[in-house]
Amino acid sequence: MLQADHECSMEEWFDGRVELAERSTHSPLLLHQRDMILQHVPKKEGARYLDLGCGTGFLALGLLNELPDCQVVGFDISALNLGVAKRKTRTKACRGFVPLRGTALMLPFDDSAFLSVFCRAVLIYLFDIPRALKEIQKVLAKGGVFVACEPVFRYPIPKAMCAKIRRHFRVWDNAYRMSRKGMIDWLAKASFSKVEVYEEMECPQFVQDLRDVDRFLHYSPWGTGIWEAGMASGISERDLEDLRKSLYAKALRGKLSFKPLNLYITAVK
Ligand SMILES: C[S@@+](CC[C@H](N)C(=O)[O-])C[C@H]1O[C@@H](n2cnc3c(N)ncnc32)[C@H](O)[C@@H]1O
Repeated sequence: MLQADHECSMEEWFDGRVELAERSTHSPLLLHQRDMILQHVPKKEGARYLDLGCGTGFLALGLLNELPDCQVVGFDISALNLGVAKRKTRTKACRGFVPLRGTALMLPFDDSAFLSVFCRAVLIYLFDIPRALKEIQKVLAKGGVFVACEPVFRYPIPKAMCAKIRRHFRVWDNAYRMSRKGMIDWLAKASFSKVEVYEEMECPQFVQDLRDVDRFLHYSPWGTGIWEAGMASGISERDLEDLRKSLYAKALRGKLSFKPLNLYITAVK
């Protein structure tokens, strides 16, 4: 797929999900991720920060709350997400927020411009993650820190079904490909030092409650749930019903595990 096509469809995808994005930032899980990210961001009043793929301003607002005199560039490909971020930061306390539209694959900033670059659930959407990491490294000041949290999916869906859904919902593909080791290699190739990447399990590992299976079927990485995502990808209702039965059976035997992980990343220039 051409780069331009990919990025247009990405922008459309996120423009269409701005309300969902905004709503999800109020969940305990995401608030926990925000705390974990901001905890590793070096704090200095007056410094410049880059919230890469800022969406509706979730991380930027968190940082400005702690450091009202810093400047945070909120950078995103989606005009609609940036619009919401702008509205939310129209307060005196957020005067340091600077919204800017563009792509993470070509950052329009001077070298060494930021004390820290941070992001949450953004790298997984990029069709060239190593290139983005090189861009990030360039715009960081010497000793500056890149901090990120990215989801990794290991879900119990039959391989063929998963492949079909992934082909349909290409935006999620990297979340299946990404690994701790791969990320460490990319960061090293982008000339980062002091790289740390660790995984944190997001949900209970073993599922015994059948309601968790239903939650999984109706709310999933594909935003719409495996059921709806499966139907949209051309999977028959009968195959989905069989999937539900097999997940129930495994759960009842205590043998069903979901593995939604988050990769927490810190890397120094
Ligand atoms: C899941 S949202 C996360 C938003 C925000 N970081 C948060 O934590 O709420 C992913 C964001 O990445 C943005 N994005 C996707 N591809 C991008 C690209 N190539 N360059 C810049 N932003 C991009 C999307 O528009 C979207 O706002």
